Amino acid sequence: MNCIQKISQDIYWVGGNDRRLERFENMFPIPNGVCYNSYLIVDEKTALIDTVDVSISALFFDNITHVLNGRNLDYLIINHMEPDHCGNIEEIVKRYPSVRIVGNKKTFQFLEQFYDYDCKNNYLEINEGDKLSLGEHQLKFYYAPMVHWPEVMFTYEEKEKILFSADAFGTFGALSGNIFSDETDFNTVFLEEARRYYANIVGKYGGQVQSVLKKLSPFEIKMICPLHGPVWRKNLPFILEKYDYWSKYKPEKNGVVLVYASMYGNTENVMNVIASKLAFKGITDMRIYDVSKTHPSYIISDLWKYSHFIVGSPTYNMGLYYGMESLLRELEALQFQNRKVSIVGNYTWSCKSTAIMQEMLSKMKNIEIIGKPFELKSTMKREQEEALENLVDEFYQSII
Ligand SMILES: [Fe+2]
Ligand SMILES: [Fe+2]
Repeated sequence: MNCIQKISQDIYWVGGNDRRLERFENMFPIPNGVCYNSYLIVDEKTALIDTVDVSISALFFDNITHVLNGRNLDYLIINHMEPDHCGNIEEIVKRYPSVRIVGNKKTFQFLEQFYDYDCKNNYLEINEGDKLSLGEHQLKFYYAPMVHWPEVMFTYEEKEKILFSADAFGTFGALSGNIFSDETDFNTVFLEEARRYYANIVGKYGGQVQSVLKKLSPFEIKMICPLHGPVWRKNLPFILEKYDYWSKYKPEKNGVVLVYASMYGNTENVMNVIASKLAFKGITDMRIYDVSKTHPSYIISDLWKYSHFIVGSPTYNMGLYYGMESLLRELEALQFQNRKVSIVGNYTWSCKSTAIMQEMLSKMKNIEIIGKPFELKSTMKREQEEALENLVDEFYQSII
């Protein structure tokens, strides 16, 4: 049975949800599932904007067959050539052999890399700013490289002023019937997941996101249709501003993420003491995470949100505890920047963790280390209280 939604007079949502998938990209846990959006415009000509993941192909073809109601599919626009959106191209060509596949040079290069079938005769190669008329609806195509792959483009529909934005403005989380963000209590249901999606999936490409936001600024946009998550038709400045902050690596809030590795609870203990001291001084909005317990994507998401963080880790095998090392490596890969941090290192016979954390953090742009790293030998002792107090003081001063 088809399951479609009408998002405007002639435009239908023909996507679907996957609530069974454990990990997006086989990496990121998605406890609330994910949705794959695809949109079908019915005019003198018909155009499908992106397809969906193969996990929901059966429903997807029910949907488009229902909306087309016996008509042919004239165009398939490929804004993004990642397999979660383009797993159904071959079947589309089989069912609608005259369909023109609209993409840029890179789109077709990736299509041929991923899939073996030959549909070259169906290609309609476009360039930046090219236009395609469907009748009343006019589509214009704009490159959005590295948001989040190099072939990505945005499609702008001029009549209804709708932006089809590929992965941009998307989020983890399946839809619960309501297709529009203003129907979803977005801040409670989706915002954390939208940030986690952005930071982990697109986070590295802040500069490219900024370029695309600049390119979009002269456009009048009444609706944003991303490939994941709800459609935006109200309060667009809200999500545009979030993207502006996230892509500038600008914290949304003053607050502290304390993230530690701890084998026997001693580093953890110091992190709790620090958080209590900061709370006593009046600092609010603190989050404490154990790298061995929480998936890094959640920690990274909160690091993206807050202004300050503290890392604490024991030395392990004469190096850094693996979970902490991997988290810092990920942050470096994501070009994480513009934050203030303090360091807590622990060791029993040879302290390596402090220096390694210092070195890894120093490779990140505009990460300011506050105070003298605090080191404990196995456990914190009473005589170290003053040193810890001093570090907490300095850290506190950097927040207020
Ligand atoms: Fe993608
Ligand atoms: Fe995607």
